[in-house]
Amino acid sequence: MRRTQKTLVIPVCLTLASLLSMAAKTYAQTVTIPVETQNNALVLQTDADKNLKMVYFGTKLTNTGEYAQILPMYKQADDSGILNSAYTPSGSANLAEPAITVTHADGNKSLNLVYVSHQVTKIDDDVTLLTVKLKDPAYPFEVTLYYKTYFKEDVTEQWSVIKHNEKGIVTLNKFASANLNLKGNGFWLKQYHGNWAEEMQPEEARLTHGIKTLDSKLGTRANLYEPSMFMVSMDKPATEDEGKVMLGSLEWSGNFKIDLELDVANNLRVIAGINNAASEYHLKPAEEFTTPAFVYTYSDHGKGDASRKLQRWARKYKIVDGQGERLTLLNNWETTYFDFNESKLAQLLKDTKKLGVDMFLLDDGWFGNSHPRNGDNAGLGDWQENKQKLPNGISSLVKEAQANGVKFGIWIEPEMVNPASDLYVKHPDWVIKQPNRPEKYFRNQLVLDLSNPQVQDFVYGVVDNLFTKNPDLAYIKWDCNAVIYNAYSSYLKKDQSHLYVDYVKGLYKVLERVRAKYPKVPLMLCSGGGGRVDYGALKYFTEFWPSDNTEPLERVFLQWEYSYFYPAITSSNHVTDWGKQPIKFRVDVAMMGKLGFDIVVSKLSEQDLNYVHDALKSYDYLKEAIWHGDQYRLQSPWDNDAASIMYVNDAKSKAVVFNYLVNNRYGAGTKVPIVLKGLDPQKKYSVKEINVYPGTNSSLGKDLTFTGNFLMTVGINPDVNSGRASVVLQLDEVK
Ligand code: GLA
Repeated sequence: MRRTQKTLVIPVCLTLASLLSMAAKTYAQTVTIPVETQNNALVLQTDADKNLKMVYFGTKLTNTGEYAQILPMYKQADDSGILNSAYTPSGSANLAEPAITVTHADGNKSLNLVYVSHQVTKIDDDVTLLTVKLKDPAYPFEVTLYYKTYFKEDVTEQWSVIKHNEKGIVTLNKFASANLNLKGNGFWLKQYHGNWAEEMQPEEARLTHGIKTLDSKLGTRANLYEPSMFMVSMDKPATEDEGKVMLGSLEWSGNFKIDLELDVANNLRVIAGINNAASEYHLKPAEEFTTPAFVYTYSDHGKGDASRKLQRWARKYKIVDGQGERLTLLNNWETTYFDFNESKLAQLLKDTKKLGVDMFLLDDGWFGNSHPRNGDNAGLGDWQENKQKLPNGISSLVKEAQANGVKFGIWIEPEMVNPASDLYVKHPDWVIKQPNRPEKYFRNQLVLDLSNPQVQDFVYGVVDNLFTKNPDLAYIKWDCNAVIYNAYSSYLKKDQSHLYVDYVKGLYKVLERVRAKYPKVPLMLCSGGGGRVDYGALKYFTEFWPSDNTEPLERVFLQWEYSYFYPAITSSNHVTDWGKQPIKFRVDVAMMGKLGFDIVVSKLSEQDLNYVHDALKSYDYLKEAIWHGDQYRLQSPWDNDAASIMYVNDAKSKAVVFNYLVNNRYGAGTKVPIVLKGLDPQKKYSVKEINVYPGTNSSLGKDLTFTGNFLMTVGINPDVNSGRASVVLQLDEVK
C-alpha cells in the first residue's frame, strides 16, 4: 500500500546543510548536487560556465562533502568541456551523441543548456524528487531534469520536461529521458533480443568505442525483437553476487532508443529515451513535453542484488497491487483455440473447479458476428459476443462460473482491427495505414489510431462495457498482437511525426481511465507473448505474459532472464502441453511466478490431478515467499546441469528452492551441494522435498534440519538427476 504523501518542498537556498541525502554544496564557483540513495550516489556538478555535469555514479561516499573533490581526480581528455553533460545539448560545443536536439522557431539548430536552479522535494521518508532547471542563454528554451529517488530500494526514475517561449513552433528532433555518464575500467553490456516465442535471449559483451544502440521502431509490440532492458557492468563483467552493475529500462511502451557511447575519454555515456526516428515533435510556446521515465538501479554486489532492488521497487511502487494477492487460473487458449461453444465452456468451468484454481480465463474467439472470430483473420474490433458460440452472452458465463465457485476473466485485444470487421468498414479513418499504399498486415490485422481521442474512447469503452455489463468480471487479459506498418494517422494530419509518441500517450490515457474506474481489478499485459513488457505499461497491470512459449525447459531460461527486471508476482506462468516433460516438471517451473494452467483437465490421470492438487496447496503456502519475498538465482541454467532458484520471505522464516535439470547428457545432475542465500545464519530450518509425485519417494532424508549458516556455507544437494529432473525444497524456520 502506498503511504500518504507528505510533500515538503525545500528551495535550493535551504538545502545547504539541511539535507543529508541530497545536499547542495558550493565548491569554488560550482554547485555540487549529490543524488543519494541508501547505498548509491549520482553526483551532478556545475562548472564555471554553469554547465551541469554528471561527475559520479556508484557507491555512495561516507563524507558527502568529498563529492565536490571527485572531478579533479580525473585527467581525461575533453575538448568540448561538456562530454559528461548531465543532459547533452547539440549544435553548440557538444559533438558527441546528444540527449536533445532542437530546431528553434527561427530555424536555428543550436542549443546550449546551463544550470539555473534546483529544488529538492521530500515526498515521504523513502521518496525524494530532485528537479534541476536548465536553460539556453540565447533562446527562451528550458529543460527541467527530474530525479525521483527511492532511498531504501536504491532505485532512481529519471525524466525531463522540455518547454519554450519562442515565437512559434520549436521542433524537438531528439528528446531523451536520461543521460548518464559512467566511469570504469571497461564496460560490459548485457542486452536481450528475441522474436515470437523466443523472448529474452541474452548477449553480453564488452563495449568498444563508438555507439551501441538498443532500439525499437515497431510502434506497438515494441519489444518483439529487442526490449529496452539492459545491464552495464563496470570494470569487469559482474556476476550474480560480485561486481559493479547498473540495471535500466525505459518506462515506455513504444519506440525507444538507448545509446551507449564509449567516448574519447573512455567514459560510457548512456542516453535513454523515446526513439526519435521519424518522430520529430512540434512544441508550441508554453507547451510542455514530458519524456517517459528511465528507471535504473546500481549495485556493487552484482546482478542479483541489483535485480532484487528493482523487484522490491516494482512491487512497492510501480505495478498495480504489487503487495497484494493474485488469482490462479485455467485458460482455454491452447485447449480450444477458437473452437468453443457454451457447452464446452460449461465443462471448462467445471474443470476449473476440479483443478482447484480460482478463475477461468476465456481467451480469444468469443466475439464478432458479421465477421465471426473463428480464426485470427476476422472479427477484431467487433466486441459483441458471437451469437452462435455464446447465445446467452458473457453474463451467463460469469453467472455459471459463480455457480461453480470460480471467477471469470476474459481476453481482449482492443487496440486492433481486422479488415474483416464491421469496425473497419464503419471507421476507416480510425485505422493506422497509408492512404496511398497497399495495406500490410501483421497477423492479419491493423492497429487502431490511439492518437485520436475518439479511438481512445472506443478502446476505453471495450473495457468499460465489459465491466459495466458484467460487474463480477474478475480479470482481463489485454493483448496486442501487431506492429505498426505504414505509420499514418488520418487524425494527426500535418503532425504525422507525432504518431509513435501520441499513440503511446493515447494508450496511457485509456489505461488511466480504466484504472481510475477499476483501480484494483487484475489485468494481464500480453503482446503475443512478451512484446510489451515494460514499466510504462506495468503501472496499469498486475502481471504480464512473458511468452507464448510455455515449453518448461525454455521457460527456465526465459523466466531466469525476465527475473532480473521483473518480480515473480508479475510473471504469468501457465502449465500447458508444450514440451515432453511430465506434469510435475511443468508445474514446478510455472510455480516460480503467478501460476496458471492451459491444459485439458479431463485428460489428466488421477495421479496427475492429485499431484496438481498437492502442488496447489504448497503454492498457496509458499506464495508469500514467491510473490513478495526476495529471489536468489543460485545456479544458472546457462552453465550448469541444473538450474536453481530460491525465494525467501521477508521474515526469513520460509523459503523455497526450485531445481531443474537442464542438461540431458549422461550422468548430468547436481554432484555438489547448492549453496543457499538470503537465510538467517542463526536460524534453524527444516528442509523437506515437496511436489513429490504420487507413488514416488524423495531421495532426500526425512526430518532434515540445518542452520542457516550451514545451508549458506556448505549448502544442500537436492539430488537432481535424470530420474529426478525437478526437485522443489521447502524450508521452514524451526523454533
Ligand atoms: C496471443 C497471445 C496468446 C493468445 C492469442 C489469442 O498470441 O499471446 O496467449 O491469447 O494471442 O489469439
